Amino acid sequence: MRPRDENTRRGFLKTATAASAVTILSRSPEAEAAAEALAGAGPNDKVRIATIGMGIIGFIDTDCALKAPGVELVAAADLYEGRRTRVKEKYGDHVATCVDYREILDRKDVDAVLLCVPDHWHAKMSVDAMKAGKAVYCEKPMVQTLAEGPDVIKVQRETKAVFQVGSQFASSVVFEKLHEMIAAGAIGKLNVVEARYNRNSSLGAWQYTLPLDASPETVDWDRFLGQAPKRPFDATRFFRWRNYQDYGTAVAGDLFVHLLTAIHRATDSIGPNKVAAMGGLRYWDDGRDVYDVILSLLDYPAVEAHPAFTVSLQCDFEDGGGDATLFRFVGDEGVISTDLASLKLERTGITWPTPEQELKGYNSVQTFSQAQQDAIAAKLAAEPKKDRKKSAYDGAQTFKPPAGYDPRFDHFVKFFTSVRQGEPVYEDAVFGYRAAAPALLCNTSLYESKLIGWDPKAMKVTG
Ligand SMILES: NC(=O)c1ccc[n+]([C@@H]2O[C@H](COP(=O)([O-])OP(=O)(O)OC[C@H]3O[C@@H](n4cnc5c(N)ncnc54)[C@H](O)[C@@H]3O)[C@@H](O)[C@H]2O)c1
Repeated sequence: MRPRDENTRRGFLKTATAASAVTILSRSPEAEAAAEALAGAGPNDKVRIATIGMGIIGFIDTDCALKAPGVELVAAADLYEGRRTRVKEKYGDHVATCVDYREILDRKDVDAVLLCVPDHWHAKMSVDAMKAGKAVYCEKPMVQTLAEGPDVIKVQRETKAVFQVGSQFASSVVFEKLHEMIAAGAIGKLNVVEARYNRNSSLGAWQYTLPLDASPETVDWDRFLGQAPKRPFDATRFFRWRNYQDYGTAVAGDLFVHLLTAIHRATDSIGPNKVAAMGGLRYWDDGRDVYDVILSLLDYPAVEAHPAFTVSLQCDFEDGGGDATLFRFVGDEGVISTDLASLKLERTGITWPTPEQELKGYNSVQTFSQAQQDAIAAKLAAEPKKDRKKSAYDGAQTFKPPAGYDPRFDHFVKFFTSVRQGEPVYEDAVFGYRAAAPALLCNTSLYESKLIGWDPKAMKVTG
C-alpha cells in the first residue's frame, strides 16, 4: 500500500487566495516529519550506506543522502580507478572502496546500497542486493529491458526489501501540489498532458569528458560489460555508455522516465495502454547508436483515478532555443504548467459566444436568410446565459518551491525513513516499472515503427 493517503497530505500545501499571488510551497509534511524522525534517531539507528557506481550521479546521490540526518557512508564500488581514488579524496580513507560490488553486498556493516550504475546493471544488482538483505535505492530507469521488471518486483515481494527507484520527481512538492490541484478540480477534466525535456548542449547530449588515463589498466572493462555483448576496450563506450543500446535505454529511458514518473505522481495513473514514438539521430552523430530527437504519444484510458487523457512527450537534444523542461496539464477548465522552478495555473476554460458574437461574429448566422437570423436572435434572447463554473481556483495563480528546494533530498529522506521503520516506499518496484516500461516501449515503437499496446495493470505488452 502506498504510504500517501489523504491524512498524510493534509495541510501540506498552502492554498493561494489572492489571484496572481505567488505562493511558496512548503515542503511536504511527510518529508518534514521524516527528516525530524531521522534527526531524532539515536546512534544505533544510523543508516550505513554504500554506493555502487561512483560516476556523476553516484557522487551527487551520495552527497544528497549524507545530508539526511544519521546517514553514514561506509563503502563504495566503482570500475574506474580514478573514481575510487576520488571517493577517498572526498569522503576520507576510512571509506572502503572496491571493484566488485559483491564485496559490498557481503559486508555486514552496510544497511542500504545506492545503485548508481549504468542501466544494464540495474536489475541484476537490485536483485542481488535485495537477496543479500540490503535496502536498495536504485537509480532510474528501474530496468534496462521490459523482461527484467517482473523479476525485480518478484524478488522485492519475496525478500520484502525496502526498494525505492531514484526518480526524485516522485517526491517533489511541485508534483505533490499538482496532484492536489488536479484532484481538487483546478483544471476541470484532464484531457492532455504535454511534457518536454529539451537540451542544447554537448554535455546535455551526453558527450561527457573522458579522463586522460582511461585504459584497460584503470578500467575493469569486462566487468562493465557484464551480460552485454563482448567487445574490445572502448573508453568512449565506458564513459558515455548512454549513447549505446547495449548499456543504456536511449533518451526515452533516461529522460521520459522522469516525465512519466511526474505524470503518474500527479494523476495517480498506473500507465498508458497505447504508445507510439518517432524520431531519429539528427545532430549528435558521434558514433552513438541511439536517436537524439524523440516525440511520443501515449494514450491513458479512463480509470477510477482519472479520465482518459493523451500524453505527448518530447526530447530534442538540438533545441537551438535553449534548455527547456516544461509540463502542461490541460483540462477543460484550465491549464497547470510547470518548468519545475514554478507552477502556474491559468483558468480560461472553454468559452461560449455572447448572442452578439453568435449573430454578428465569425459564425454561420450572417449567411442565413434575414428571417432565419431574426428567428435565431429571438431564440438566443429567450435562452438563459451560459456561465462558466466558478471555482476556488479562479484567476491566474503561481506557486514556487522554497529557494534551493531539491526533490532528491526529499526522496532520500523518505527512503531512509522506510529503511529505519520498514515502511513501504512510494516509488516502489511496481511504480518504477510502470514508469520505466512505457518509456522503454517508446524506444521499441521508434525502432520498429509501430504502435504498441500495453496493459498497465497486468504490466504486459498487448500487441
Ligand atoms: N535521478 C536522476 O536525476 C539521475 C541523473 C543522472 C543519472 N541517473 C542514473 O544514474 C545511473 C548512472 O548514471 P551516471 O550519469 O552517474 O553514469 P556515469 O557513467 O557517470 O557513472 C556510472 C559509474 O558506474 C560504474 N560502474 C559501471 N558498471 C559497474 C559495475 N558493474 N560495478 C561497479 N561500478 C560500475 C562506472 O565505473 C561509472 O563510474 C544511470 O542509470 C542514470 O540513468 C539518474
